[in-house]
Amino acid sequence: GPLATYDPGFMNTASCRSAITYIDGDAGILEYRGYPVDQLAAGASHLEVAYLLLYGELPTPDQLASWEKQINTHRLVHENVRELIDAFRYDAHPMAKLMAGVASMQTFYPSSRRIDDPEAREMNIIRLLGKIPTMAAWAYRHSIGRHFVYPNDELGYVDNFLAMLFQSQQRVYRADPRVSRALEVLFILHADHEQNCSTNAVRSVASAGNDLFTSVGAGIGALFGPLHGGANEAVLGMLREIGTIDRVPDFIAGVKEGRARLMGFGHRVYKNYDPRAKIIKRSCDDVFEVTGVNPLLSIALELEKIALEDEYFVSRRLYPNVDFYSGLIYEALRFPPEMFTVLFAVPRTAGWCAQWLENMTDPDQKIMRPKQIYTGYRERTFVPQDQRG
Ligand code: CMC
Repeated sequence: GPLATYDPGFMNTASCRSAITYIDGDAGILEYRGYPVDQLAAGASHLEVAYLLLYGELPTPDQLASWEKQINTHRLVHENVRELIDAFRYDAHPMAKLMAGVASMQTFYPSSRRIDDPEAREMNIIRLLGKIPTMAAWAYRHSIGRHFVYPNDELGYVDNFLAMLFQSQQRVYRADPRVSRALEVLFILHADHEQNCSTNAVRSVASAGNDLFTSVGAGIGALFGPLHGGANEAVLGMLREIGTIDRVPDFIAGVKEGRARLMGFGHRVYKNYDPRAKIIKRSCDDVFEVTGVNPLLSIALELEKIALEDEYFVSRRLYPNVDFYSGLIYEALRFPPEMFTVLFAVPRTAGWCAQWLENMTDPDQKIMRPKQIYTGYRERTFVPQDQRG
């Protein structure tokens, strides 16, 4: 047949039709179901946004109340999953625990394999949205050797997540509302981002006829990578390595010589600015009001200032992305760096669910199976072992 189009990284290949998230990278626009993300970040809750992504419309107050109630009743995780998380080595990365926990759900909820049954699909989406914060919090508690905290029915989605993370035996943990709102805003900003690497992984695995949990498990694996969700963790590593403001110019020089990448900079789609980075920068101020200023912030600001004026970054259209500032907030909230990508995975689950559902209900979707340009040998003759070399 005709030679396939060579498009490594799918820079110019649309893998699907989608009505969920709209991005205009040149204009710096991000919309969920047509609503600009800054409006959602200013006025909505994460579960409201999850509903919007899944059903295509903002919920009425009644719909939202019943949606929240359904998700909140599914926060509890099977005790065997607790043991599964417990069985990991003490220093295991929490993303590995989360990936395993989500993948295991397929075995606890066999209805998930009925991918053509709309009721089963919805039920399992609700289960996953309910349980992902619990598993994420337990993955963290396991790392620090603390008892696991069970979900509290009286708390909302984000407040309950914070309590499961930080509750101690000595005192009742109640999040500062400024902290919990900042995390909610971060959740909304991370909820979906059309066909990014992990969402593509979810759809690709789904295209073979896989259930939600198996597909999202694969998405968590993709998100783990330092060029994707792992970037916020890498940003903090970089800021620590730089250490002091006076060493910023040397670091930038190294980046320009190709010795390192400026983590948290650049984006496949956003070539003028990342609209999420703008909103997060404002959340930084709110959080630092509660926690005190993170000393690494001054290094980050200096890096940004120098990079935005430097010909190397300007000509390549490299700007701060969502991860440049999110790591600073997470660190100020005293999350260890390994948790940063988990804090991306929890809200992105809403997007993965919506994209999985859209893929499953799209009559045009086929098993995803790209072509290649073969560059190897042809038609060689086998040489038996004793006649080689
Ligand atoms: N620091 C220094 N140079 C860079 C950077 C960077 N962060 N990003 C891109 N470049 C250079 C790159 O070397 C290349 O230069 P040249 O044309 O001279 O070879 C040019 O810019 C184009 O880069 P690319 O790698 O072809 O661009 P891409 O669209 O394939 O990569 C990216 C996008 C996000 C993977 C990349 O910019 C990067 O590695 N950034 C750092 C990691 C990061 O912050 N990732 C988070 C992305 S946002 C959250 C998410 O979606 O997970």
